Amino acid sequence: MQESQTKIYRKQNKIYTKNADSGEKVYGEQLLTEEGKQYRNWQPSRSKAGAAVMKGVNLGISHDDEVLYLGAASGTTVSHFSDIVQEGFIYAVEYSDTVIKKLVELAEKRENIAPILGDARKPEEYEEMVQGEVDVVFQDISQSDQPEIFLKNAEKFLKPNGIGLIAIKAHSISTSKEESKIFEEVKEKLTQKFEIKKEKMLEPYEKNHLFLKMRYKQ
Ligand SMILES: C[S@@+](CC[C@H](N)C(=O)[O-])C[C@H]1O[C@@H](n2cnc3c(N)ncnc32)[C@H](O)[C@@H]1O
Repeated sequence: MQESQTKIYRKQNKIYTKNADSGEKVYGEQLLTEEGKQYRNWQPSRSKAGAAVMKGVNLGISHDDEVLYLGAASGTTVSHFSDIVQEGFIYAVEYSDTVIKKLVELAEKRENIAPILGDARKPEEYEEMVQGEVDVVFQDISQSDQPEIFLKNAEKFLKPNGIGLIAIKAHSISTSKEESKIFEEVKEKLTQKFEIKKEKMLEPYEKNHLFLKMRYKQ
């Protein structure tokens, strides 16, 4: 097992994180034990962040980072971030009260996740739950106003020079415009406040998705 980026491991073209809740699976992923340490296979077809790692994006998340995660769903990707930031913390925002139930169960077993039932369009509603500024804002929400939501949250919570990570689904933004045009427009909005460090399409794991790693210019 080779550490290929902070707390993300690679073996035979698969990626893993070190299981912070030993013996437990979160979404049916494979567990692997080597030299007394247990790892969880991070399935890129189930996680856009995992797909980005497979496509060569260094997420840049450190073991003690605080992360604001927008669109947490039931916690598939959040669980791997929780493995990565073992001395850090994740504020995981999800607006579906059915989907969030599994995330709440996950957070009961892991100390570094705060599930937040909230609408990412209204960060003022959860600002009291987020302690200070975060190092990373991650977003995976498939909404037409994705860039605006992302910028709003960054302005409120992200540290100067912090990292922005976003997965953009072309069809959620528009079904009539050309994909390349959609991505250009999204990038134009985001680069008012961010510098793009890396961009990758997520094929073959996800169709029509662009992943951006950015640095906050504020
Ligand atoms: C593609 S899924 C996220 C999958 C998750 N990131 C993962 O990899 O495990 C998108 C999620 O965003 C949530 N969502 C969409 N719009 C939202 C909003 N405005 N505020 C909070 N959550 C939102 C949806 O309910 C859905 O669970």
